[in-house]
This record gives sequence, C-alpha cells and structure tokens, in this order.
Amino acid sequence: MKKFFVLISLIIPNLLLAQKFENLALTPPMGWNTWNTFGCKINEKLIRGAADAMVASGMKDVGYQYIIIDDCWQGGRDSLGFVYPDSTKFPSGIKALAGYVHSKGLKLGIYSDAGHQTCGGYVGSRGHEYQDALTYANWGVDYLKYDWCNTDSLNAYWAYTTMRNALYTAGRPIIFSLCEWGNNQPWLWASEIGHLWRISGDITPCFDCEENHITYSSWGVMRIVYMRDGIRQYSGPDHWNDFDMMEVGNGMTESEDRTHFSIWCMLASPLIAGNDIRNILTNKEVIAINQDSLGIQAFRFDVRDSVEIWAKPLLHGDWAICFLNRAIEIKTIEFDWKNNIVKDDIFKKELNTKAGTYKVRDLWTEKDIGNTKKKLTGELLSHDVILVRLIKQ
Ligand code: GLA
Repeated sequence: MKKFFVLISLIIPNLLLAQKFENLALTPPMGWNTWNTFGCKINEKLIRGAADAMVASGMKDVGYQYIIIDDCWQGGRDSLGFVYPDSTKFPSGIKALAGYVHSKGLKLGIYSDAGHQTCGGYVGSRGHEYQDALTYANWGVDYLKYDWCNTDSLNAYWAYTTMRNALYTAGRPIIFSLCEWGNNQPWLWASEIGHLWRISGDITPCFDCEENHITYSSWGVMRIVYMRDGIRQYSGPDHWNDFDMMEVGNGMTESEDRTHFSIWCMLASPLIAGNDIRNILTNKEVIAINQDSLGIQAFRFDVRDSVEIWAKPLLHGDWAICFLNRAIEIKTIEFDWKNNIVKDDIFKKELNTKAGTYKVRDLWTEKDIGNTKKKLTGELLSHDVILVRLIKQ
C-alpha cells in the first residue's frame, strides 16, 4: 500500500505538469525559417545575418520575431545521448547563437523530428525527447518545429504529447509547432499540445501546381488554401492552423506573391517568411489583419466569374475582405456592399452594410477609397488581390 502511494505521488505531479505553455502565441507567430530558400545549406553566419536583416529591414518593427533553424543543423549524439550541432556549420554552438539572436531582441527556433531520423536523415528525437527538450531549454531556444518523418507506426497524438510534456518539464517556455502535415487531423486534438500545426505537405513556389515526387507531393499556394475544408473553427489564439512557411519572394509573380501574403493574413496563418527579405512582407496594415486579436480564420464567402471573395471578421466589428482573381485574364470588379450580407455562421458575425456604414480602406495602396454606400469597383490582374478593411463608422 505504501508503495502504491509513493507511486501515485510520483505520477500525479507529472500528470499535473502535462500541459503546454499557455499564451505564447495569442496571435499567429511571425518569423523566418531557413528551409524554403537554404535547405541544408545553413550555418551560424547565415543565421546571424538573418537576425541582422530582420532588424535592418524593418521586419522586426512590424512584428517578425522568430529566427528558425530548420533541418540539417544536427551533428549527432554524444555517448550519453545528448544531441550536438554540426561543428562545421555551427562552430560556436547553438547557445552562443541564441545569445546573439536574443541580443537583437529576437527569438530562436530549432527543428527536430518525432521519429528516429529527421526528413533530411539527421538524428531525430525518438527516445530522447526529455533529453532534447532539456538541451533546447539550456541553449535558450524559444520555438520548436517538430517534424513527422521516419515515425514508423508511432501514434501522432502520443508522440507529440510526449514532446509537449518534455518541453514543459524542461521548464523554458517554448512554442511548439507540430509538423505532421495534417495526416492525423491535428486540428481535432492538438490545441492542448501545441501552438500551431501544419495542415499540408510542403509548399513550393507556384500559384496553383502540384509537384509530384512519387512518394509525396509539394503544393502550390492555392492548393494549400483549399486542401482542408471545414477546419477554420479549430484555429484561434494560441492554436493555429499553419498553412506552411511562405514562398513570397521565391519566384512567383508580384501579383501572386501579393495574393499569397494576403491570403495567409486572411487565414490567420503563422507568417513565417521562407525567402530573403522583401518589402512586401512588411505592410503593416496587411499584417494587422493577420495579427488581429480575435484570431478568426477567413472563409470564402463567394466565387463570381473566377473571382473569389474572402471575408475575415476583425476586432470591434471591422472586416477584411479580399477579392482574389484565380483566372489568367484580368477581371473587372463591381461589388455592391448593400446587396451582399456576409454571414459567418461559425463565429456568429455578420456584415450588413444596410445596418451601418463602413469606411473602406485599400490595404495595398494604403488609401481610403470611400465607404460601403458606394460600389467597390476596380480591375484585378491575373492571380492578384484587392484587399480592403471595412472600418465601422
Ligand atoms: C519536412 C517539413 C519541411 C522541412 C523538411 C526538412 O518536409 O515538412 O517543412 O522541415 O522536412 O527536412
């Protein structure tokens, strides 16, 4: 009996500890990640340079915060099983790098995998979760992206729960980013585990393509947007649907980049840049749509002649409306607000301009363009957007 109570007293604190760090991502995390542009060609100089650029370019001023080292940083495990970085790529070690990133007022993210190896074939965390969590905490890491390659028949819920518990036990608040590509519907179970979860396989810089690699596919921007129906109710403050790291600046047209960025903002997706820094990523008014504290993911209200109309309810009764031209030809928009009552049945919001007038602000031209008493008219280039904010008057 005594043994039983001893056992219970050991187990209960651990169960009580079993939670994620709350309130680390009340709005979608914003940052930059090495993978989309640099793949495995990473080193500490690149990461320090990225931190410098984030500050110098003004990205930090508009809210970008996390510098995330993706796959291929690992050197191996020592005789006790502790992970260490590749000493050629990271001769000063990750702790020193974290110190540098912190000195710029930014935060450092790192990457691992729930399986025995990462997607790039480096050491994974399976069987070393608590050790790895302690190591990251000791290094001063602030964000962990946790992948799903080489997991055999592991149960996703338990694998991610184990790492969540390990992080919590290690004691340093670390954002936990699940990357199992939506295979196990993490939106149904991960809000207690992580702060964001990928909903798709990997993004690739094209507007609407599928790149078939035989065993898996990479996806263009719009393919990811449509990949999952009916999951917007699962996203919100501290638990976000993650539409993947952005490809803005990585080869699409300017219109397509603008659309990509706008729709990521509308969908309240984490904004993790995957390019070299460009001005398009620092539009404050567009980012404000993404960072709105209601944290509601947009929905597609209508499609008319290949022009999609997306709507996102915002704080204080404001709305963001995005007209998106899917076609390859130019489209003319003529949208009469009073004939369009926009209803969000899930979050119980309604935009009815007959009940009140809204000021209309074009967020890319940064101009007030009248109010909702007047029709919105304009030309929309192929794959481009008109993104407006309706401000209640
Ligand atoms: C997976 C992830 C990517 C990237 C690579 C690294 O494919 O989905 O985002 O982290 O692994 O190997």
